[in-house]
Amino acid sequence: MKSFEAVFGGVPAAIGHAPGRVNLLGEHTDYNDGFVLPIAIPQQTHVAIRRRSGTAFSLYSATLDRTATFALDAPPLDHFATYVYGCIAVVRTAGFEVPTLDIHLSSTVPIGVGLSSSAALEVATLRALRLLLTLPFDDVAIAQLAQRAEVKHAGVHCGLMDQMAASLANTTQALFLDTRTLERRLWVLPPDSAVLVLDSGVARSLATSAFNQRRAECEEAAQRLCVHALRDVDISELSRIDALDYPLRSRARHVITENARVLQAVQTSNPRDFGLLMNASHASLRDDFEVSVPALNCLVALLQAEPEVYGARLTGAGFGGACVALCDDQALQRVADRVLNQYTREDFCGAVLVPSA
Ligand code: GLA
Repeated sequence: MKSFEAVFGGVPAAIGHAPGRVNLLGEHTDYNDGFVLPIAIPQQTHVAIRRRSGTAFSLYSATLDRTATFALDAPPLDHFATYVYGCIAVVRTAGFEVPTLDIHLSSTVPIGVGLSSSAALEVATLRALRLLLTLPFDDVAIAQLAQRAEVKHAGVHCGLMDQMAASLANTTQALFLDTRTLERRLWVLPPDSAVLVLDSGVARSLATSAFNQRRAECEEAAQRLCVHALRDVDISELSRIDALDYPLRSRARHVITENARVLQAVQTSNPRDFGLLMNASHASLRDDFEVSVPALNCLVALLQAEPEVYGARLTGAGFGGACVALCDDQALQRVADRVLNQYTREDFCGAVLVPSA
Protein backbone atom coordinates (compact mmCIF):
# COMPACT_ATOMS: atom_id res chain seq x y z
CA MET A 1 0.00 0.00 0.00
CA LYS A 2 1.59 3.31 -1.08
CA SER A 3 2.04 5.93 1.65
CA PHE A 4 1.38 9.69 1.38
CA GLU A 5 5.14 10.24 1.08
CA ALA A 6 5.47 7.71 -1.74
CA VAL A 7 2.63 9.28 -3.74
CA PHE A 8 3.08 13.00 -3.14
CA GLY A 9 6.54 13.38 -1.56
CA GLY A 10 6.85 15.07 1.86
CA VAL A 11 4.43 14.70 4.74
CA PRO A 12 0.73 15.54 5.19
CA ALA A 13 -0.30 18.70 7.06
CA ALA A 14 -3.40 17.12 8.67
CA ILE A 15 -4.83 13.63 9.16
CA GLY A 16 -8.41 12.60 10.02
CA HIS A 17 -9.57 9.15 11.18
CA ALA A 18 -13.01 7.61 11.56
CA PRO A 19 -14.33 4.08 12.19
CA GLY A 20 -16.98 2.04 10.39
CA ARG A 21 -20.03 1.01 12.41
CA VAL A 22 -22.33 -1.92 12.91
CA ASN A 23 -25.91 -1.25 13.89
CA LEU A 24 -27.11 -3.54 16.71
CA LEU A 25 -30.77 -2.51 16.54
CA GLY A 26 -32.93 0.22 14.98
CA GLU A 27 -32.81 -0.37 11.23
CA HIS A 28 -34.45 2.02 8.76
CA THR A 29 -35.64 4.10 11.71
CA ASP A 30 -33.24 7.04 11.42
CA TYR A 31 -34.91 8.73 8.45
CA ASN A 32 -38.21 8.30 10.30
CA ASP A 33 -36.92 10.42 13.22
CA GLY A 34 -36.58 7.25 15.31
CA PHE A 35 -34.10 5.44 17.57
CA VAL A 36 -30.88 3.59 16.67
CA LEU A 37 -28.15 1.68 18.49
CA PRO A 38 -24.92 1.47 16.44
CA ILE A 39 -21.44 0.64 17.75
CA ALA A 40 -18.09 1.47 16.13
CA ILE A 41 -16.05 -1.38 14.61
CA PRO A 42 -12.25 -1.60 14.90
CA GLN A 43 -11.70 -0.97 11.17
CA GLN A 44 -10.95 2.69 10.35
CA THR A 45 -10.50 5.09 7.46
CA HIS A 46 -7.61 7.57 7.39
CA VAL A 47 -7.49 10.72 5.27
CA ALA A 48 -4.26 12.72 5.02
CA ILE A 49 -4.17 16.11 3.29
CA ARG A 50 -1.82 18.95 2.37
CA ARG A 51 -2.19 22.15 0.33
CA ARG A 52 -0.99 22.04 -3.29
CA SER A 53 -0.69 24.67 -5.99
CA GLY A 54 -2.97 25.03 -9.03
CA THR A 55 -6.70 24.28 -9.23
CA ALA A 56 -6.73 20.46 -9.59
CA PHE A 57 -7.22 18.37 -6.44
CA SER A 58 -5.24 15.12 -6.48
CA LEU A 59 -6.82 12.21 -4.58
CA TYR A 60 -5.10 8.87 -4.17
CA SER A 61 -6.85 5.84 -2.65
CA ALA A 62 -4.27 3.41 -1.27
CA THR A 63 -7.06 0.87 -0.73
CA LEU A 64 -8.04 0.87 -4.41
CA ASP A 65 -4.60 1.94 -5.71
CA ARG A 66 -6.30 4.57 -7.85
CA THR A 67 -5.87 8.30 -8.40
CA ALA A 68 -8.61 10.77 -9.21
CA THR A 69 -8.18 14.43 -10.06
CA PHE A 70 -10.96 16.96 -9.92
CA ALA A 71 -11.65 20.69 -9.77
CA LEU A 72 -14.15 22.42 -7.49
CA ASP A 73 -16.55 23.27 -10.30
CA ALA A 74 -17.00 19.68 -11.60
CA PRO A 75 -17.78 16.53 -9.61
CA PRO A 76 -15.28 13.70 -10.20
CA LEU A 77 -16.33 10.79 -12.40
CA ASP A 78 -14.71 8.22 -10.09
CA HIS A 79 -17.28 7.00 -7.55
CA PHE A 80 -14.86 6.81 -4.59
CA ALA A 81 -13.85 10.44 -5.13
CA THR A 82 -17.47 11.64 -4.98
CA TYR A 83 -17.55 11.31 -1.18
CA VAL A 84 -14.44 13.44 -0.70
CA TYR A 85 -15.62 15.97 -3.28
CA GLY A 86 -19.01 16.07 -1.52
CA CYS A 87 -17.35 16.91 1.82
CA ILE A 88 -15.34 19.74 0.26
CA ALA A 89 -18.49 21.04 -1.44
CA VAL A 90 -20.57 21.12 1.77
CA VAL A 91 -17.78 22.89 3.68
CA ARG A 92 -17.70 25.54 0.95
CA THR A 93 -21.49 25.86 1.02
CA ALA A 94 -21.22 26.41 4.78
CA GLY A 95 -19.14 29.48 3.94
CA PHE A 96 -15.50 28.33 4.24
CA GLU A 97 -12.85 28.44 1.50
CA VAL A 98 -11.11 25.13 0.82
CA PRO A 99 -7.66 25.38 -0.84
CA THR A 100 -6.50 22.93 -3.52
CA LEU A 101 -5.25 19.73 -1.86
CA ASP A 102 -3.24 16.55 -2.17
CA ILE A 103 -5.41 13.87 -0.51
CA HIS A 104 -4.35 10.36 0.49
CA LEU A 105 -6.92 7.92 1.76
CA SER A 106 -6.60 4.43 3.14
CA SER A 107 -9.16 2.25 4.84
CA THR A 108 -9.71 -1.13 6.41
CA VAL A 109 -13.49 -0.65 6.62
CA PRO A 110 -15.07 -3.30 4.35
CA ILE A 111 -16.79 -1.65 1.38
CA GLY A 112 -20.41 -2.31 0.34
CA VAL A 113 -21.43 -4.67 3.17
CA GLY A 114 -23.46 -2.33 5.40
CA LEU A 115 -20.66 -1.22 7.75
CA SER A 116 -20.74 2.42 6.59
CA SER A 117 -17.47 2.75 4.74
CA SER A 118 -18.87 5.89 3.10
CA ALA A 119 -19.70 7.58 6.43
CA ALA A 120 -16.21 6.69 7.73
CA LEU A 121 -14.67 8.29 4.64
CA GLU A 122 -16.82 11.41 4.94
CA VAL A 123 -16.16 11.92 8.66
CA ALA A 124 -12.41 11.25 8.27
CA THR A 125 -12.27 13.77 5.38
CA LEU A 126 -14.15 16.42 7.36
CA ARG A 127 -11.95 15.86 10.41
CA ALA A 128 -8.83 16.36 8.30
CA LEU A 129 -10.32 19.56 6.82
CA ARG A 130 -11.31 20.78 10.31
CA LEU A 131 -7.74 20.32 11.50
CA LEU A 132 -6.06 21.90 8.47
CA LEU A 133 -8.38 24.90 8.23
CA THR A 134 -9.30 25.30 11.94
CA LEU A 135 -13.00 24.98 11.12
CA PRO A 136 -15.44 25.64 14.00
CA PHE A 137 -17.37 22.35 13.74
CA ASP A 138 -18.08 20.07 16.70
CA ASP A 139 -18.55 16.31 16.24
CA VAL A 140 -22.33 16.62 15.72
CA ALA A 141 -21.84 19.32 13.07
CA ILE A 142 -19.26 17.08 11.36
CA ALA A 143 -21.83 14.25 11.25
CA GLN A 144 -24.49 16.59 9.83
CA LEU A 145 -22.15 17.89 7.12
CA ALA A 146 -21.15 14.30 6.27
CA GLN A 147 -24.81 13.32 5.87
CA ARG A 148 -25.39 16.34 3.62
CA ALA A 149 -22.43 15.26 1.47
CA GLU A 150 -23.91 11.76 1.12
CA VAL A 151 -27.42 12.94 0.26
CA LYS A 152 -26.43 15.73 -2.13
CA HIS A 153 -23.41 14.21 -3.80
CA ALA A 154 -23.75 10.40 -3.52
CA GLY A 155 -27.54 10.45 -4.07
CA VAL A 156 -28.44 8.24 -1.08
CA HIS A 157 -31.30 9.78 0.93
CA CYS A 158 -29.87 8.37 4.15
CA GLY A 159 -30.61 9.33 7.74
CA LEU A 160 -28.03 10.54 10.26
CA MET A 161 -27.15 7.26 12.02
CA ASP A 162 -24.02 6.26 10.12
CA GLN A 163 -22.36 9.65 10.26
CA MET A 164 -23.22 10.13 13.97
CA ALA A 165 -21.72 6.69 14.67
CA ALA A 166 -18.55 7.45 12.69
CA SER A 167 -18.22 10.77 14.50
CA LEU A 168 -19.28 9.87 18.07
CA ALA A 169 -19.29 6.11 18.69
CA ASN A 170 -16.57 3.91 20.14
CA THR A 171 -15.90 0.18 19.93
CA THR A 172 -16.74 -0.73 23.51
CA GLN A 173 -20.14 0.92 24.04
CA ALA A 174 -23.05 1.36 21.63
CA LEU A 175 -24.48 4.81 20.86
CA PHE A 176 -28.16 5.00 21.76
CA LEU A 177 -29.37 7.91 19.66
CA ASP A 178 -32.69 9.67 19.24
CA THR A 179 -32.31 10.87 15.66
CA ARG A 180 -34.95 13.58 16.10
CA THR A 181 -33.61 15.39 19.15
CA LEU A 182 -30.02 14.06 18.83
CA GLU A 183 -30.20 13.17 22.52
CA ARG A 184 -27.81 10.29 23.06
CA ARG A 185 -26.04 8.18 25.61
CA LEU A 186 -23.55 5.36 25.55
CA TRP A 187 -24.98 1.92 26.25
CA VAL A 188 -22.89 -0.94 27.64
CA LEU A 189 -23.29 -4.38 26.04
CA PRO A 190 -24.85 -7.06 28.28
CA PRO A 191 -22.23 -8.81 30.48
CA ASP A 192 -20.14 -11.59 28.89
CA SER A 193 -21.47 -10.84 25.41
CA ALA A 194 -19.68 -9.62 22.28
CA VAL A 195 -20.49 -8.62 18.73
CA LEU A 196 -19.89 -10.94 15.79
CA VAL A 197 -20.27 -9.62 12.23
CA LEU A 198 -20.30 -11.99 9.27
CA ASP A 199 -20.32 -11.06 5.60
CA SER A 200 -22.93 -12.95 3.56
CA GLY A 201 -20.71 -12.63 0.48
CA VAL A 202 -23.69 -11.30 -1.46
CA ALA A 203 -23.19 -7.83 -2.91
CA ARG A 204 -25.89 -5.27 -2.24
CA SER A 205 -27.58 -4.93 -5.58
CA LEU A 206 -30.06 -2.11 -6.24
CA ALA A 207 -29.35 -0.88 -2.73
CA THR A 208 -29.48 2.85 -3.53
CA SER A 209 -32.68 2.84 -5.57
CA ALA A 210 -34.49 0.40 -3.25
CA PHE A 211 -33.32 2.40 -0.22
CA ASN A 212 -34.65 5.65 -1.66
CA GLN A 213 -37.92 3.89 -2.51
CA ARG A 214 -38.34 2.62 1.09
CA ARG A 215 -37.74 6.11 2.38
CA ALA A 216 -40.38 7.52 0.04
CA GLU A 217 -42.86 4.83 1.18
CA CYS A 218 -42.26 5.71 4.83
CA GLU A 219 -42.82 9.39 4.11
CA GLU A 220 -46.05 8.60 2.29
CA ALA A 221 -47.23 6.40 5.18
CA ALA A 222 -46.53 9.21 7.65
CA GLN A 223 -48.44 11.66 5.48
CA ARG A 224 -51.46 9.34 5.24
CA LEU A 225 -51.40 8.89 9.03
CA CYS A 226 -51.23 12.68 9.44
CA VAL A 227 -48.00 12.63 11.45
CA HIS A 228 -44.73 14.44 10.81
CA ALA A 229 -42.77 11.15 10.80
CA LEU A 230 -43.51 7.50 11.63
CA ARG A 231 -41.71 8.08 14.93
CA ASP A 232 -44.83 9.93 16.01
CA VAL A 233 -46.93 6.75 16.03
CA ASP A 234 -46.42 4.96 19.33
CA ILE A 235 -46.53 1.16 19.54
CA SER A 236 -49.71 1.46 21.65
CA GLU A 237 -51.41 3.03 18.61
CA LEU A 238 -50.28 0.35 16.14
CA SER A 239 -53.86 -0.26 14.98
CA ARG A 240 -53.74 3.14 13.24
CA ILE A 241 -51.82 1.45 10.41
CA ASP A 242 -54.92 -0.62 9.59
CA ALA A 243 -56.03 2.41 7.59
CA LEU A 244 -53.14 1.84 5.15
CA ASP A 245 -52.80 -0.62 2.28
CA TYR A 246 -49.80 -2.78 1.36
CA PRO A 247 -46.92 -1.88 1.14
CA LEU A 248 -47.32 1.25 3.29
CA ARG A 249 -48.94 -0.69 6.14
CA SER A 250 -46.05 -3.18 6.32
CA ARG A 251 -43.39 -0.48 6.06
CA ALA A 252 -45.03 1.51 8.86
CA ARG A 253 -45.39 -1.62 11.02
CA HIS A 254 -41.67 -2.30 10.72
CA VAL A 255 -40.67 1.23 11.72
CA ILE A 256 -43.11 1.48 14.64
CA THR A 257 -42.22 -1.95 16.09
CA GLU A 258 -38.49 -1.41 15.48
CA ASN A 259 -38.52 1.85 17.45
CA ALA A 260 -40.26 0.01 20.30
CA ARG A 261 -37.61 -2.74 20.16
CA VAL A 262 -34.76 -0.24 20.52
CA LEU A 263 -36.45 1.47 23.47
CA GLN A 264 -37.00 -1.91 25.13
CA ALA A 265 -33.46 -3.11 24.36
CA VAL A 266 -31.69 -0.25 26.11
CA GLN A 267 -33.63 -1.07 29.28
CA THR A 268 -32.18 -4.57 29.49
CA SER A 269 -28.83 -5.95 30.51
CA ASN A 270 -29.86 -9.52 29.80
CA PRO A 271 -28.20 -10.78 26.59
CA ARG A 272 -31.01 -13.29 25.91
CA ASP A 273 -33.69 -10.58 26.04
CA PHE A 274 -31.57 -8.39 23.79
CA GLY A 275 -31.05 -11.30 21.38
CA LEU A 276 -34.79 -11.97 21.08
CA LEU A 277 -35.28 -8.35 20.04
CA MET A 278 -32.57 -8.77 17.36
CA ASN A 279 -34.33 -11.89 16.04
CA ALA A 280 -37.65 -10.05 15.92
CA SER A 281 -35.95 -7.17 14.10
CA HIS A 282 -34.71 -9.55 11.41
CA ALA A 283 -38.17 -11.04 10.91
CA SER A 284 -39.61 -7.55 10.58
CA LEU A 285 -36.93 -6.45 8.07
CA ARG A 286 -37.54 -9.64 6.09
CA ASP A 287 -41.35 -9.74 6.12
CA ASP A 288 -42.52 -6.15 6.59
CA PHE A 289 -39.72 -3.97 5.26
CA GLU A 290 -38.69 -6.54 2.63
CA VAL A 291 -34.99 -5.67 2.54
CA SER A 292 -33.57 -9.16 3.13
CA VAL A 293 -32.37 -11.70 0.55
CA PRO A 294 -32.15 -15.53 0.75
CA ALA A 295 -28.42 -15.55 1.63
CA LEU A 296 -28.98 -13.20 4.60
CA ASN A 297 -31.95 -15.26 5.81
CA CYS A 298 -29.84 -18.41 5.61
CA LEU A 299 -26.89 -16.91 7.49
CA VAL A 300 -29.14 -15.38 10.16
CA ALA A 301 -30.97 -18.71 10.65
CA LEU A 302 -27.65 -20.56 11.08
CA LEU A 303 -26.51 -17.99 13.64
CA GLN A 304 -29.81 -18.08 15.52
CA ALA A 305 -29.59 -21.89 15.77
CA GLU A 306 -26.30 -21.70 17.72
CA PRO A 307 -26.76 -22.11 21.48
CA GLU A 308 -24.01 -19.55 22.16
CA VAL A 309 -25.71 -16.91 19.98
CA TYR A 310 -28.23 -14.71 21.83
CA GLY A 311 -29.67 -13.17 18.66
CA ALA A 312 -28.87 -12.30 15.05
CA ARG A 313 -30.15 -10.11 12.23
CA LEU A 314 -29.14 -8.49 8.98
CA THR A 315 -27.48 -5.15 9.59
CA GLY A 316 -27.37 -1.92 7.59
CA ALA A 317 -29.68 -1.14 4.71
CA GLY A 318 -30.04 -4.81 3.63
CA PHE A 319 -30.33 -6.26 0.09
CA GLY A 320 -27.10 -8.20 0.79
CA GLY A 321 -24.07 -7.37 2.92
CA ALA A 322 -23.48 -8.34 6.55
CA CYS A 323 -25.25 -9.93 9.53
CA VAL A 324 -24.66 -9.03 13.17
CA ALA A 325 -25.01 -11.40 16.12
CA LEU A 326 -24.73 -10.97 19.86
CA CYS A 327 -22.72 -13.93 21.16
CA ASP A 328 -21.22 -15.41 24.26
CA ASP A 329 -17.88 -13.55 24.28
CA GLN A 330 -15.92 -16.79 24.86
CA ALA A 331 -17.43 -18.48 21.81
CA LEU A 332 -16.95 -15.97 18.96
CA GLN A 333 -14.39 -17.92 16.95
CA ARG A 334 -16.08 -21.26 17.54
CA VAL A 335 -19.46 -19.94 16.43
CA ALA A 336 -18.00 -18.17 13.38
CA ASP A 337 -16.17 -21.32 12.21
CA ARG A 338 -19.19 -23.55 12.67
CA VAL A 339 -21.68 -21.20 11.03
CA LEU A 340 -19.45 -20.36 8.06
CA ASN A 341 -18.84 -24.05 7.49
CA GLN A 342 -22.55 -24.78 7.33
CA TYR A 343 -23.10 -21.69 5.18
CA THR A 344 -20.58 -23.05 2.65
CA ARG A 345 -22.56 -26.28 2.50
CA GLU A 346 -25.56 -24.19 1.44
CA ASP A 347 -23.43 -23.01 -1.52
CA PHE A 348 -22.69 -19.55 -0.16
CA CYS A 349 -19.35 -18.05 0.79
CA GLY A 350 -19.15 -15.90 3.92
CA ALA A 351 -16.37 -14.32 5.99
CA VAL A 352 -15.75 -12.91 9.46
CA LEU A 353 -15.65 -9.08 9.53
CA VAL A 354 -15.70 -8.48 13.31
CA PRO A 355 -13.69 -9.34 15.35
CA SER A 356 -11.15 -8.23 12.74
CA ALA A 357 -8.03 -10.27 12.05
C1 GLA B 1 -28.05 3.02 5.59
C2 GLA B 1 -28.31 4.52 5.79
C3 GLA B 1 -28.68 4.83 7.24
C4 GLA B 1 -29.80 3.92 7.72
C5 GLA B 1 -29.51 2.45 7.39
C6 GLA B 1 -30.68 1.56 7.68
O1 GLA B 1 -26.91 2.63 6.29
O2 GLA B 1 -27.16 5.26 5.42
O3 GLA B 1 -29.00 6.19 7.37
O4 GLA B 1 -31.02 4.35 7.19
O5 GLA B 1 -29.16 2.27 6.03
O6 GLA B 1 -30.94 1.52 9.04
